[in-house]
Amino acid sequence: MSLHRSAILIVDDDPGVRDVVARCLQREHYRVLVAGGIVEARKQLAHDDVIIALVDITLANGESGLDLLNELHQSRPDVDVIMMTANSDVTSAVDALQKGAYDYLCKPFPFQVLAAAVKRAVDRNRFAERAQMLDQIDAQRAASEEHLQQFLMSLASVIDAKSRFTSQHSRRVSGLSRLLAEALGMSSDHCDLIALGGRLHDIGKIGTPDAILDKPGALTADEYGIIKEHPALGDELIAPIKDLAVLRPMIRWHHESLDGKGYPDGLPGHQVPNEAWVVKTADYWEAITSQRPYREPMALGKAVRVLRGESGSRIPAHIVETFIEAIQGHPLAVAPSAPTARPAVEADIDLARSVKVIRRSAAQLASLEGDRHQHSQQGGAGA
Ligand SMILES: [Fe+2]
Ligand SMILES: [Fe+2]
Repeated sequence: MSLHRSAILIVDDDPGVRDVVARCLQREHYRVLVAGGIVEARKQLAHDDVIIALVDITLANGESGLDLLNELHQSRPDVDVIMMTANSDVTSAVDALQKGAYDYLCKPFPFQVLAAAVKRAVDRNRFAERAQMLDQIDAQRAASEEHLQQFLMSLASVIDAKSRFTSQHSRRVSGLSRLLAEALGMSSDHCDLIALGGRLHDIGKIGTPDAILDKPGALTADEYGIIKEHPALGDELIAPIKDLAVLRPMIRWHHESLDGKGYPDGLPGHQVPNEAWVVKTADYWEAITSQRPYREPMALGKAVRVLRGESGSRIPAHIVETFIEAIQGHPLAVAPSAPTARPAVEADIDLARSVKVIRRSAAQLASLEGDRHQHSQQGGAGA
């Protein structure tokens, strides 16, 4: 409700008073409606966007402005009522205030007094309207945070339900990713995001047949081709949720490689963001140190040597070295001996906190993209 659309209703049985008050308010650029009695006032109120009513206490035909005040108080609490009264009727005016009138004016009133009273009421009305809008925005935000929490919960549950191996794998990758992010000195929000990215990095595997995931032997070229579809599939799955854009690089690019021979996009190494390197490293370590249906876990010393073999060729060297240092003596370095019973999703994801971090990061991302767009436009104009 904006001021130019909203109106002030004058209810007075004296046409002379209606006319003078209306002209005064129109000079102040208010939109004005008039009514001679309660029935006419009801019609105006039903068809127009009235925010203030100036109501004479004593109306013709035995009607009382106090009755209209009562009616408005019940049915239209958004309308602020200013009573108008003769000087001799101050007791009724005070009574009106007690019954919920916003203000009263004693006739005859100078124009400035009328204008000031109406302005106060309009300001109050607009303030109340703004407060109500903020309440609604807060309620909508809370509802959308709840939806996002439920969506994250569903994603994590889908991974858990896929197989005992994917459940244990994603939980350990999440822990190892956080460990590495912390060792790299990333902020606490960034570490939370990376832990969540690690937990969801293989979400695209819901499209990979169990027979391939759990195959107790070497994969054929075709089967390997199907496995390689999971990062792009996972990315497609979360792409429609705009707030989750901050997780997409970790889901889509955790199998990219420094030499540009990774998948699904074969990105040159310098285009792969740090978060994706962190999840890739944690993922790689988890895979070689855990039990699979077709092989035993690698011993720690051998796993360190194998990971170092990737350093500088497939994974940036400083990421590999920081990771190896961070896992020394850490319980996550070694996989549990066998897949255990699945803990609840909430055991390793603080959903409410995750949603708040995602929201903050999404806002930062939007502002970075805005800056980038502005810079590119400025650059284009200068070229
Ligand atoms: Fe993967
Ligand atoms: Fe993985």
